[in-house]
Amino acid sequence: MPQVKELPSVTFNDGSGGLLAFKRDQLAFLSRGLARHGDIFRFRPLGIPMVMVNHPDHIQHILIDKGDKYDKNASLFKIVRPVLRKGLIANADMELWRRQRRMMAPHFTPKAVSAFARNMTDETARSLEHWERVYGPGDTLDVTDEIGALALRIVIRSLFSADVTDTALAFERAFGAANSILGAFFRFPFPPLSVPTPGHRRLRRAIDEMDAFVSGFVRKRLAEEVAVGEETDLLTLLLHTVDEVDGGGMDLEQLHHEVLNICIGAYETTTNTLSWAFYLLARHPEVEKKVHEEVDRVVGDRTPRFEDLRELTYTRTVVDETLRIYSPAYQFMRHATEDDVIDGYRVPAGSNMLINSYFLHRHPDFWDEPEEFRPERFGKEEVARRPKHAYLPFGVGQRVCIGKHFALTELILVLATVARRYRLVLPEGAPEVVPEALITLHPKGGVRLRLERR
Ligand code: HEM
Repeated sequence: MPQVKELPSVTFNDGSGGLLAFKRDQLAFLSRGLARHGDIFRFRPLGIPMVMVNHPDHIQHILIDKGDKYDKNASLFKIVRPVLRKGLIANADMELWRRQRRMMAPHFTPKAVSAFARNMTDETARSLEHWERVYGPGDTLDVTDEIGALALRIVIRSLFSADVTDTALAFERAFGAANSILGAFFRFPFPPLSVPTPGHRRLRRAIDEMDAFVSGFVRKRLAEEVAVGEETDLLTLLLHTVDEVDGGGMDLEQLHHEVLNICIGAYETTTNTLSWAFYLLARHPEVEKKVHEEVDRVVGDRTPRFEDLRELTYTRTVVDETLRIYSPAYQFMRHATEDDVIDGYRVPAGSNMLINSYFLHRHPDFWDEPEEFRPERFGKEEVARRPKHAYLPFGVGQRVCIGKHFALTELILVLATVARRYRLVLPEGAPEVVPEALITLHPKGGVRLRLERR
């Protein structure tokens, strides 16, 4: 039997288990660890045992083969739990999570999501009208801000059938604050969140604001007593969902947490992906041209619809490639509930397994010239040649993103609706936009582009 090895350890001699280097630049720290030790190594910021894994076989082992032995009691999820609480994303109580997932999954199938396609194209058309009114020739558009507002309107309409702008802005601001405070805390988890520093008090206020946003809609709906009908939104569906196993529903607190998880899960990830997609298209006019040709051929003069997705295959590869280079949910974690051996290395119980798709999606064994934007990588044959788990934008296994079909539908329909009429062009002398590693991967400073009629 081969001998079990000890994991190589990264400290970079800063006397803090790598903490200071990790705090300064998390991606640079991990990149140096991978260059020095290969696909698996450990580090201990502030004594927290972390194991970085970066191979498709590790993903298969942790998220699928031994999925039940690796739960969400990992440090990253503990950090975001004050915000997400008992909702699906960070829930570590497997029994509760399983029941919730069972009840919610039917509302996120491709067929169920097709009911929301109209919200996506209507809201995009509204954004285009607004842009046309507000931005003159030569003006630059803050794409990240504008797409953020659009993504939030789409999720709010799908959840609540509501049309809001002012309260949505407050939600965006609160979420932005929580994302950067928690992102900084993840890189340097001190002092504990229970200590009322100004930042932690700001986090508390941001959580209260997001809660007020959600409970406003829930309270209103409860007063209205809407029945499930053809044009039903997600809130009504969740209110009336019954568990097939025990016949019960969701209590109101749980419902609140799930709604908040959907808002958060759906809003920033799609905003970032679309911002990056427009940025990448602006930098690659040859790719943009192919998108335009496809959209003109498939959609022509009408509004794009759900049924077009099957034929918008090139646009889909643009989305896939954007999610590869700038995977918004770029890091997630699992907690090892028992001792294990991965790749011949001893992994002690209690380890925090760090999966980082920013690096997995650049792994030199599976991706040629990984910094290059090449949608062709997602052609059928190329995909078949790669190990499945070399690409992981939505995770995999039992905790795979429940909103994957919602997201893909939204990303393709928004791109197609914009591409029918407009180009977003790189302004002269525009600086390169670089990723900022918060809890999600964010375009630092936002993406700014010029709107041009085609
Ligand atoms: C580009 C868009 C999106 C990306 C890249 C993304 C990515 C992810 C990833 C990687 C996970 C799994 C994390 C893990 O295994 O620890 C996840 C989970 C989740 N996502 Fe998404 N997501 C996106 C959009 C959405 C949307 C649109 C929704 C809701 C409509 C959503 C709701 C959720 C929820 C509720 C979970 C937790 C699932 C569970 O544990 O059962 N996401 N997402």
